Amino acid sequence: MSLDRSTSIFRRLPAEEASGLRTTARHELARVYKSRDLVVLGLGVMIGAGIFSIAGRQAATVAGPGVILSFLIAGIAMLLAALCYAELSSTLPVSGSAYTYTFVIFGEVFAWIIGWSLILEMQLAISVVARAWSIYFAQTLTDLGVTFPDWLAWMVGKPEGFDLPMLLIICLLALIVSAGARIGLRALYVIVSAKLLAIGAIIVVGALHFDQANIDGKIPAPPGPAAQSADLLHTTIIGAAFGEPGSFGWFGIFAAAPAIAFAYIGWDIVATAAEETNDAARSIPTGVIRGLVLATVLFISVAVVMVGMVPYDQIDQGAPLANAFRHVGEGTMAHVVNLGAVLGLTSVILVLLVGLTRVVFSMARDGLLPRGLSVINRRYRSPSRLTLIIGAVAIVLGETVPVLTLEPLVVMGTVFAFMFVAAGVIVMRRAMPDLPRGFRVPWSPVVPALAVLASVWLLMNLQVVTWLYFAAWMAFGLIVYLLYSRPNSILDPRSRHFGQGRHRR
Ligand code: ALA
Repeated sequence: MSLDRSTSIFRRLPAEEASGLRTTARHELARVYKSRDLVVLGLGVMIGAGIFSIAGRQAATVAGPGVILSFLIAGIAMLLAALCYAELSSTLPVSGSAYTYTFVIFGEVFAWIIGWSLILEMQLAISVVARAWSIYFAQTLTDLGVTFPDWLAWMVGKPEGFDLPMLLIICLLALIVSAGARIGLRALYVIVSAKLLAIGAIIVVGALHFDQANIDGKIPAPPGPAAQSADLLHTTIIGAAFGEPGSFGWFGIFAAAPAIAFAYIGWDIVATAAEETNDAARSIPTGVIRGLVLATVLFISVAVVMVGMVPYDQIDQGAPLANAFRHVGEGTMAHVVNLGAVLGLTSVILVLLVGLTRVVFSMARDGLLPRGLSVINRRYRSPSRLTLIIGAVAIVLGETVPVLTLEPLVVMGTVFAFMFVAAGVIVMRRAMPDLPRGFRVPWSPVVPALAVLASVWLLMNLQVVTWLYFAAWMAFGLIVYLLYSRPNSILDPRSRHFGQGRHRR
């Protein structure tokens, strides 16, 4: 590989190097996914805690039945960003998605920042979702009449402190994913089919109990007292536009959108599977967009039946969907909801493990993290060791930190990356107009610019404390970059890996 001998933190990874074209090297990961599989990956990672618990909580405390519109607003913001991901992934169909695009378009330090925030997004999300999984798991067993003896009960299905099921589910799924994408994919098909059946039942049975009176005249719900939304960064702006900041009303509909964005999180992870996908330049854009559109339709349908079944001020914040069915006398459906949630959250964790492994793998391959992390297990043709390490970190994090309070940080890490990807489309069209693109964002630069604005908007709706945590994580990341990553980058003449290239030959 011949590269400029630059030590600048803004040095860029050549596009041909990113995709392996320069060295005619082959990717080492096994190619397992087809277009249809990517839709399953997307649904696998999207339908989880967001729709099963967060939607109900937001309806009860912030948006009322207007949560339907919050889903629409968040969905539009996601679709704008997804169109941008589609273009970049069709131009650079490589593992690492937003991290690698940023490396090519904006340079190394920005790539590091994005990679570091994707690590935050996914590593934290694994622990958050595994904790929620344990709570639903315990509830499902209780529904089935299982009672836990005292010596066990204290560590099952708890929001904080040591939790045994959380530990076991992460161990199990990390082992499955470490055995290669093919085995993970089979497991995913089974789980996603079952959870779609549960979602289908929720929509059909919920529709039978839909009561228009629960919605009529309540979108937006009458403004209420300031609640958790009071310390949002943009409070003053919205307050000025729509009246006094508080809960409910139009304010609540917009204020709920970033929390609702958690439900959509994951469609971006599909793009990290590019190197394992056949005809990735075409399959990734269609897979990402189809999965997202399908999830949006399902989310809005579930939200409609939920707020149609029960008056929003009576929605249970702990188990909103299950208790909505109890409210209308469909106790059996409450079990279906809990079982659906257990399955749903299982596949979310599984795909998050795949996605995070691919991002860290890419960063390690570029020398920004220890190269040993990019070692491929020959038997499974997958970064197996790295998968197990990520699983172990998720366990430690989940067991020691009250992760359920940190959901907004997951949204922050994700949407931060969206901003760069959307801006990247505009910059790349100018800087590298001749690169072949399997998909082009329509009406560029208007759509990418709107995607940037939508991302900024979502970020401004997050709480100040979330911004502070994020800033601390980023500051720590920059220290790691300067001390370790920069001198070890494959682009750095001081590195012993300089000139070796990102793909082994
Ligand atoms: N979208 C995923 C969920 O809702 C992260 O659990």
